[in-house]
Amino acid sequence: MDKAQQDALKKAAGIEAAQLIQDGMIAGLGTGSTVRFLVDELGRRVQEEGLKFTGVTTSRRTQEQAESYGITIVDVDDVDHIDVTIDGADEVDANFNGIKGGGAALLWEKIVATNSDRIVWIVDESKVVDTIGRFPLPVEVIPFGAGHVIKRFEAKGYKPVLRMDADGKEVRTDEQNFVVDLHLDRIDNPLELAHDLITTVGVVEHGLFLNMVDQVIVGDPNGPRTLT
Ligand code: 5RP
Repeated sequence: MDKAQQDALKKAAGIEAAQLIQDGMIAGLGTGSTVRFLVDELGRRVQEEGLKFTGVTTSRRTQEQAESYGITIVDVDDVDHIDVTIDGADEVDANFNGIKGGGAALLWEKIVATNSDRIVWIVDESKVVDTIGRFPLPVEVIPFGAGHVIKRFEAKGYKPVLRMDADGKEVRTDEQNFVVDLHLDRIDNPLELAHDLITTVGVVEHGLFLNMVDQVIVGDPNGPRTLT
């Protein structure tokens, strides 16, 4: 699948998911190229159909895009609940366990997801896998002592790589942390790995999203498919 085909599938999933947002809702808005299509469609509905909803965003990028359409965005601490969060993913398996953080937004994404009544992922069909782990697992790490965390990961065989930007500088998250990508190839026991990562001092969050997702909308050449 080339990028244009993949984008078409992402767009179809994003447009389909936009239908889930109704007047008066509080909606979590994820991050990434698939979510960009979702927000474009929500912006269209706000401007052309008068849709009125409140958004809670998982990154500054998504906030800027949503606000450019006149969508009201509030802080996650300014709402007592989130009706539904729609987000992308890097991989998802048949049990709706997956990997997120390819766009370095995993921490805010997990906070928003944790406070949501319902979580929907939008992906193109290439993201649906039998076993997660081929996509390098992002881990958000505090800069202070990050070198030692990386050494610990190396000793455990996690094959960590500190994420760098095009200018050769460390990528920073919206919380100014680093991202370390673990090249594991496959993750046979995600719960055990999640526990090991989150109990490592210096780790803020990891990109394993386990037992959280209610619905996945898959962009498919035959049209979007909804998995529940
Ligand atoms: C950002 C994410 C994204 O949702 C994930 O990387 C998928 O991105 P895309 O829709 O661009 O493929 O987790 O941190």
